[in-house]
Amino acid sequence: QRVDTSDQWIVERTGIRERHRAGPDDTVASLSLTAARIAMAKAGVGPLDIGAIVLGTATPDRLLPSTACDLQALMGAHNAAAFDISAACPGFIYAIVVAEGLIASEQADTVLVVGAEKLTTITDHTDRSTAILFGDGAGAAILQRVKGGDRGLLSTFIKSDGRLAPLLLRPGGGSSDPISEKVIRERSQFMKMAGREVFKHAVLTMAEACDEAIKRAGITADQVDLLVPHQANIRIIEATAKHAGMPMSKVMVNVDRYGNTSSASIPLALAQAEQEGRLKPGTVALLVAFGAGFTWGAAVVRW
Ligand code: UT7
Repeated sequence: QRVDTSDQWIVERTGIRERHRAGPDDTVASLSLTAARIAMAKAGVGPLDIGAIVLGTATPDRLLPSTACDLQALMGAHNAAAFDISAACPGFIYAIVVAEGLIASEQADTVLVVGAEKLTTITDHTDRSTAILFGDGAGAAILQRVKGGDRGLLSTFIKSDGRLAPLLLRPGGGSSDPISEKVIRERSQFMKMAGREVFKHAVLTMAEACDEAIKRAGITADQVDLLVPHQANIRIIEATAKHAGMPMSKVMVNVDRYGNTSSASIPLALAQAEQEGRLKPGTVALLVAFGAGFTWGAAVVRW
């Protein structure tokens, strides 16, 4: 479909130049498998070592069972407990928080954390206010208990405000309004967003999340080497960096290449930062995200 927009408008207002669409045979589970294999190889971990799979997604392959269970079967991770987290764009940060808890409570020693989406399947390609923004992708990480040393998760912070749900939602297709002719006619199986309102809240809540995570880590903002923000809009990223007092040279940006991939956004940005040599042992990274719910969160990590 064609919508009334221009490349110039999109680049100026969002910073997005391209986005990726999963192939017809790709599922969220198969995209996750690709990411999980890379993360496992880097961590030197096999599928049977994994005690839990925590998968953040807003676009599960099916509503029942979880996409994490499909991923478990594809991987052969037969020793794991597997489940999805529904927390929209900060899904990866929420999943990290859950993984940390699973490790602390000795439910699991090794946790696979995934953020994966096929947002193009819930995007209304006739709605110019959202069609230009979203893409597909997956990223993964392995979390393990660190024995000694000061590397790893230094702090986390998550928060939500469900009163703001009407500003960004997918109204139809769930159990309150199951798929019907009416849902299809009203196109309510697709995301709806009040862009400008969402923008304002994104800037405010990501600022709060940065402040809280930095405070909880017991560091100051100038000790952060790399800001890895959710990639929704370059203007939101710039506002967040400004609030955190970080020059753009210390900010990971790839919204131009992938658009908004929701819970895949942070792990994709981390993977690229690592490839580019921007995450070395000892690098302090601040991850921060915001999304539908509303939900927001941040984590400080020493790489
Ligand atoms: O992942 C977390 C959730 N999502 C986000 O964080 C996204 C947050 N929101 C945004 O990034 C921005 O609000 C958008 C990129 C969605 C929109 O940018 P904006 O600067 O807030 O534009 P706007 O919605 O205030 O619209 C400005 C104008 C309007 O025209 P009028 O009323 O001024 O004549 C829109 O109709 O731009 C128009 N417009 C477009 N024009 C060309 C809206 N979308 C488009 C478009 N192409 N695709």
